[in-house]
Amino acid sequence: MTAGTNEAGHLTIGGCDVVSLAEMYGTPLYVYDEHTIRSMCREFVGGFESEYADSHISYSSKAFTNPALAKILEEEHVGMDVVTGGELAIVRAANFPASDLNFHGNNKDRAELEEALDYGIGLITIDSMYEIDLLDEVARQKGVTQQVLLRVSPSIDGRTHLLTSTGVLDQKFGFPIETGQAEEAVRHALTKSNLDVAGIHFHLGSPLFELEPYTQAIPYVLEFVAKMREHGLEQRIFSPGGGFAIGYVSDTLPLEISEYAEAIGASITEACDRFGLNEPRLILEPGRAIVGRAGVALYTVGGTKEIPGVRTYVSVDGGMGDNIRPALYGAGYSVIKANGPDEPVAGYVTIAGKYCESGDLLVKDAPLPALETGDVLAIAASGAYCLSMASNYNMSLRPAVVLVNDGNARVIRRRETYDDLLAPSIL
Ligand code: LLP
Repeated sequence: MTAGTNEAGHLTIGGCDVVSLAEMYGTPLYVYDEHTIRSMCREFVGGFESEYADSHISYSSKAFTNPALAKILEEEHVGMDVVTGGELAIVRAANFPASDLNFHGNNKDRAELEEALDYGIGLITIDSMYEIDLLDEVARQKGVTQQVLLRVSPSIDGRTHLLTSTGVLDQKFGFPIETGQAEEAVRHALTKSNLDVAGIHFHLGSPLFELEPYTQAIPYVLEFVAKMREHGLEQRIFSPGGGFAIGYVSDTLPLEISEYAEAIGASITEACDRFGLNEPRLILEPGRAIVGRAGVALYTVGGTKEIPGVRTYVSVDGGMGDNIRPALYGAGYSVIKANGPDEPVAGYVTIAGKYCESGDLLVKDAPLPALETGDVLAIAASGAYCLSMASNYNMSLRPAVVLVNDGNARVIRRRETYDDLLAPSIL
């Protein structure tokens, strides 16, 4: 949102010259723009509240987690979801309010559930019969009654990548409504004296570029909720998950947040009216849409391989270790020359990573100005599911992260060192 160009002809973000940031902190470097993060939080909070008053936004921390980000979210009145003890540990380090946390995941173990209860977590979203029994037992041992949601699977296709599609019947998450297993789970959970079943959750997948999957699934699931009253379910919370898309490439533009809010809000109000339900508290779980656009990845150009009549490969100092998405999902990205964003396009080049796999390509056939060794490339919309899925493949060092705002830059994660790589090894 704050991207611009300065007198030097360099890309700026948050009032900082990104070429200077690259020089100062090295590359690959992930730059997050605080203004964009806060603006997206406000778009979600304000957008949903104006369509459905009792809305609450819970950021899905798997998209990118860092204590500094947790602080910003808290200030913006946005809660957080975690899916592992590790994510919980990060948000705990930021003293994030436990009451505003939701623990997701299809196979939380006893230790993770104990950690969550010890922290006084507000909500746990249960995903299996095994977990109903386990959590009830852990809660009893701790002498608490835990507020929970049950995750159902509505057999509705979110029309996204197969690997991130979670609404259809044949996938691992949630109790299927279609097969009667969701009803069984509700009945079973309601018999547990240390569980307080507050409602139902579903998540269709990520990213969803259309409204229809939401507007199809919401009435279907709320009809199920209405039916479950016969077993004693009293709905207070309803969560249709996350999945809100962002723009990566210019030919696939996302919806506005207000469009999602309008469709989801109206759909819940109508369905509650139709099925005689009180309007529940609505929880939305955006991950990508809060941080995706806010993050830009910077790389330095190394060598070039031009295969006459075939393709030109320009290699950079990062790749699938810090962004696995192109290799894993065939995800597309937009790239610009950060030290010459306004220079004319000289041709199409493929940006290759430095990892030992031929599939390690960040952007295929990108229109770019003439490039030479030492140029800095910026890949937009790199804020979600890049660093959070980063690895040490080839024993590479995971990049530093800088938060920029109003001309100031602050390192919120340092670059890893060889010592970090060696630390877990026993010599
Ligand atoms: N809620 C639940 C239960 C989820 O499983 C997810 C994402 C979200 C919310 C947040 O979805 P978002 O608003 O960020 O779309 N690695 C993949 C995305 C995996 C998403 C997993 N669950 C990617 O890079 O595209």
